[in-house]
Amino acid sequence: MQIAIDGPASAGKSTIAKLIAKNLDFVYCDTGAMYRAVTLLAKKNNVDYDDSSSILKLMSEHKIYFVNKPGGQHVMLDDEDISDTIRTEEITNNVSQVSAIKEVRTELVEMQRQLANDVDIVMDGRDIGTTVLPDADVKIFLIASVAVRAKRRYKENIERGINTPLDVLEDEIAARDYKDSHRKISPLKKADDAIEVDSSDMNIEQVVKRITEIINKNK
Ligand code: DC
Repeated sequence: MQIAIDGPASAGKSTIAKLIAKNLDFVYCDTGAMYRAVTLLAKKNNVDYDDSSSILKLMSEHKIYFVNKPGGQHVMLDDEDISDTIRTEEITNNVSQVSAIKEVRTELVEMQRQLANDVDIVMDGRDIGTTVLPDADVKIFLIASVAVRAKRRYKENIERGINTPLDVLEDEIAARDYKDSHRKISPLKKADDAIEVDSSDMNIEQVVKRITEIINKNK
């Protein structure tokens, strides 16, 4: 079974997708982490974020993969655990540029389809229901208002010792929404057959409950 969860930045996709995968005992795949890993790879090698040929070369020389550990899924770049370093502001604010590169998307989409082969999976991202897994059994489009998403990110940041003001976060989220939904290839878009869930006024348990109901109906 394939469950696709798409939506804009900070809508809660990964939190929800992880919980749904755990409850159903499905594999979880965070595709945003893969685009973040490529962005980090460019940064580490002092390659410009729009230098597609150098980024592609780096991708062919290095390995990005997931390792499942008891506490959750870890993202690896060669032998290095990059689960935390891909969440820095620098990566967050430049990943849209890297993820707009056609060849980067082609490579990562192929990897994502392979990961979804022969397993039950919950995959979250921006183009899962439209491009990566167009035949997914269940497609969810998870949204929330910019104000609510900025507040959630603010809280997460404070826990990690980052103090970016709320209005700056609102501007950053709105900018990322714009870039993700206006890029030429596979822009962020609700698939025609996706079910929209607005989590603005819901807590995590309520969203998991709502999506579980949708999954059960479509089983
Ligand atoms: O979900 P996230 O914030 O970790 O995603 C990081 C970026 O990666 C996001 O701004 C757009 C891009 N992305 C994408 O283009 N396609 C996906 N399937 C997942 C993420």
